[in-house]
Amino acid sequence: MQKLNVVLTLPGGGHLSCGEIFTTTPDARGRIQGSFRYTKEYLSNPGAFPLDPVHLPLGAAEIEADRPQGIHGVFEDALPDDWGRALLSAKYRIPRAEQTVPNLLKFLGASGLGALSFYSGKGNAYVDPSAGIHDLSRMLAAALNFDAGLPVDENDLNALFICGSSPGGARPKALIKDNDGRQWIAKFPRLNDRYHVEAIEAGTLWLAVNAGLNVPDFSIRKAGNRSVLLVERFDMTPSCGRNHMISMQTLLGADGYYNMSYSDMFVMINKFSSKPRKDTDALFRQMVFNAAISNTDDHLKNFAMLYTESGFCLSPAYDLVPDIYHNREHRLSFPQGAGTLPPGRKILERIGNVYKVSNPGRIMDDVYQSVSRWQDVFEEYDVPEKDIQRLEPAISRGLSRLGSQTK
Ligand SMILES: Nc1ncnc2c1ncn2[C@@H]1O[C@H](COP(=O)(O)OP(=O)(O)OP(=O)(O)O)[C@@H](O)[C@H]1O
Ligand SMILES: [Mg+2]
Repeated sequence: MQKLNVVLTLPGGGHLSCGEIFTTTPDARGRIQGSFRYTKEYLSNPGAFPLDPVHLPLGAAEIEADRPQGIHGVFEDALPDDWGRALLSAKYRIPRAEQTVPNLLKFLGASGLGALSFYSGKGNAYVDPSAGIHDLSRMLAAALNFDAGLPVDENDLNALFICGSSPGGARPKALIKDNDGRQWIAKFPRLNDRYHVEAIEAGTLWLAVNAGLNVPDFSIRKAGNRSVLLVERFDMTPSCGRNHMISMQTLLGADGYYNMSYSDMFVMINKFSSKPRKDTDALFRQMVFNAAISNTDDHLKNFAMLYTESGFCLSPAYDLVPDIYHNREHRLSFPQGAGTLPPGRKILERIGNVYKVSNPGRIMDDVYQSVSRWQDVFEEYDVPEKDIQRLEPAISRGLSRLGSQTK
């Protein structure tokens, strides 16, 4: 039996020992049994809140994790995905059979995104995982080579291990602190990218801001002949605290292949948001934006709720990219039986009315007007003409549905 202590950093900056995770070693099929229980200290704290309001309600009972990983989803949310897991495993030379979720959390310690830290013993010393902004070019070069399996200078690799092994997602990234102390996620290109993804994502974020979405601050930095996208971290607070994060995938208990819809997220917001009206409008706006720009990679880990000083709320929008993989179908279905291809304006309006969105027509106009400018904006962000031409059919399709009154 392995035990991990879970510590929560509060938005105001304090730390609370909030619970314990117990896990068995994996059986022959790789299944782990595990459970979580809140500490008495946490339960008696007036600021205590459920880390996962669906699966981990506050209470003294031990709660089994009914997942093969042996760990509740909210803890796995703290772990990186493909890119960060590869770095973490390389950094600590963790053999494949030992790359289990509980083990990776032990190695992640206090470096993960969000407000949770994990300790197996008396406490690993906290090491700030962020690299300085002056190291950006060096980290980019190391990331490109590591990602492509090419040799990397030992010192650079060690530095990349520290700043790159905590952020999530499939693509290469690193945590960066600028000279003013602001903390960013740097999103790097890959050697075999078929599109200039970072420039495209920056242009899309600009269109999102212009369409009224809540988006973190972002900027493009040139490093040699490549572009890096910096997105400000929304899990950090100005008072050196953290906002606890939980993905919609975890809230909805959606592991593996799932078949879910934007309506499932509207339900979660209605149940758990401290500002349900505002967040319902925001999710509707994001759904319409994803339809218009053809962001088909709208999977449930690309949506999250944050626990801020006012309670749970929808996080700012992130990972907004048009259909560079030519999927056509969205990962999520649209409500009202519309399926995985976005519906026209009429049905979108009906969806807005069903969820009591304030003025869905106005939101659709905002999004339409902003996304209509996409070619000029992408050019301003130095997206190559070839990329613009290849994205044109998908974005035109998205825009024309939003403009059409008929369906
Ligand atoms: N600004 C931010 N602040 C804090 N956490 C963030 C921020 N942006 C993204 N994240 C977290 O980092 C994870 C990875 O980011 P993102 O989704 O942008 O990367 P990606 O590699 O493009 O993802 P994917 O695997 O979906 O292609 C997200 O799932 C989210 O948990
Ligand atoms: Mg993502």
